[in-house]
Amino acid sequence: MMLYSILGFANIALIIIGTSPFWVRSLGNLLFPKRNVQTNKLVKKLRVLHKPLGACLLIVVIVHGYLALGTPRIHTGTLLGIFVLVTVVLGAIFTKVKKPALFKWHRLIAVLSVLLVILHLLAPNALRFISG
Ligand code: HEM
Ligand code: HEM
Repeated sequence: MMLYSILGFANIALIIIGTSPFWVRSLGNLLFPKRNVQTNKLVKKLRVLHKPLGACLLIVVIVHGYLALGTPRIHTGTLLGIFVLVTVVLGAIFTKVKKPALFKWHRLIAVLSVLLVILHLLAPNALRFISG
């Protein structure tokens, strides 16, 4: 397997684990409604990972993109990379300046990034009609 492929799947793992505090909470409340205390404890531990994994994601995304694409050009990966960059930058600014609007945008762009991952995997060349 090529290195860019390994890094591509590492990106998916980083997103799944990095966003785990949020979906583990929802899933825990749904499946184990009486185990709220345990769920909260686990979520608290997972939250510690959110920012460091977000920073790692940005680095691995850039290396994966560079190895897979070489020169920058229009591709589902490029679009996805821009969304991940904006998500991470918004998260970092929000951590400093606690403006609720920044957090809303962080969440929204994060969700759009995850949708773009699906496009990037199912139809990597979906933007070829633009790039020619
Ligand atoms: C969250 C961000 C990203 C994730 C999760 C991701 C994931 C993946 C995965 C799993 C593959 C398939 C590897 C394989 O088939 O063995 C892939 C392929 C690829 N990725 Fe990404 N990627 C991301 C960002 C990017 C970026 C930023 C770029 C370029 C700027 C990029 C460019 C490519 C290219 C060119 C391919 C090959 C597509 C093809 O087979 O036609 N990716 N990516
Ligand atoms: C360096 C990178 C990042 C920083 C500094 C950051 C910062 C934050 C902060 C401060 C919060 C508030 C809740 C908490 O502290 O746990 C948060 C929540 C959130 N982050 Fe990030 N984040 C980063 C990367 C990411 C990435 C890469 C994603 C997804 C692709 C993401 C998705 C989310 C989501 C969905 C929430 C909302 C959770 C909820 O609704 O309660 N973040 N982030």
